[in-house]
Amino acid sequence: MKILGICGSLRKESWNLKLLKNMLAQTAEKGGETNLFDLTSVPMFHPDVEAQGIPHEAEALRDAVREADAIIIACPEYNGSMTATLKNAIEWLSRRGNLLTNQIFFIIGTGPGRSGCPRMHMHASYSLESEGAYVLHQPRVLLPNVANFMDNNGNITDPEVTDLLSQAAETLIDYTKRLTAPD
Ligand SMILES: Cc1cc2nc3c(=O)[nH]c(=O)nc-3n(C[C@H](O)[C@H](O)[C@H](O)COP(=O)(O)O)c2cc1C
Repeated sequence: MKILGICGSLRKESWNLKLLKNMLAQTAEKGGETNLFDLTSVPMFHPDVEAQGIPHEAEALRDAVREADAIIIACPEYNGSMTATLKNAIEWLSRRGNLLTNQIFFIIGTGPGRSGCPRMHMHASYSLESEGAYVLHQPRVLLPNVANFMDNNGNITDPEVTDLLSQAAETLIDYTKRLTAPD
């Protein structure tokens, strides 16, 4: 089973990227074949550009999603929503043969503040589900106060968070198996 990770933050030292890598590692331990796609080079969606043909970097994102059985998104909350980076990726994925329909997503988020990205989760889920995607809503991996459970190197320091990520990875794998099983 192929599990793709996408991070909605472009920051090199992104907490969300570090959290994503931890969840991908848990998924790999449970037998998932994991891959990470970096959104840095994906251009801003532009209908006039699209009309000339999908740019190579956006097509690379579409290929990665096409090949995946399920996708884990990690994203910070920006201005009470998802980042423009993530929304832009969703726009490219929704076009020319919508790749979001029937695709399985697990959305996680963290940050240094007291809020665990609930509005990012709500808005990203809404956008994906509007396009026919399946978003798993449990267990919630929306974690405030990142410094309380992860060090600067991305090591999880709280065993309860390790357990949560393990549970989340297991749920994603089970759900994906059931949804993609032949009749
Ligand atoms: C433009 C901008 C808007 C932000 N808005 C929010 C917000 O609405 N809620 C919140 O909890 N944090 C907000 N933050 C703080 C981010 O959660 C914090 O910078 C976080 O570390 C970014 O995630 P990253 O470490 O994965 O890059 C915002 C940060 C930026 C740069």
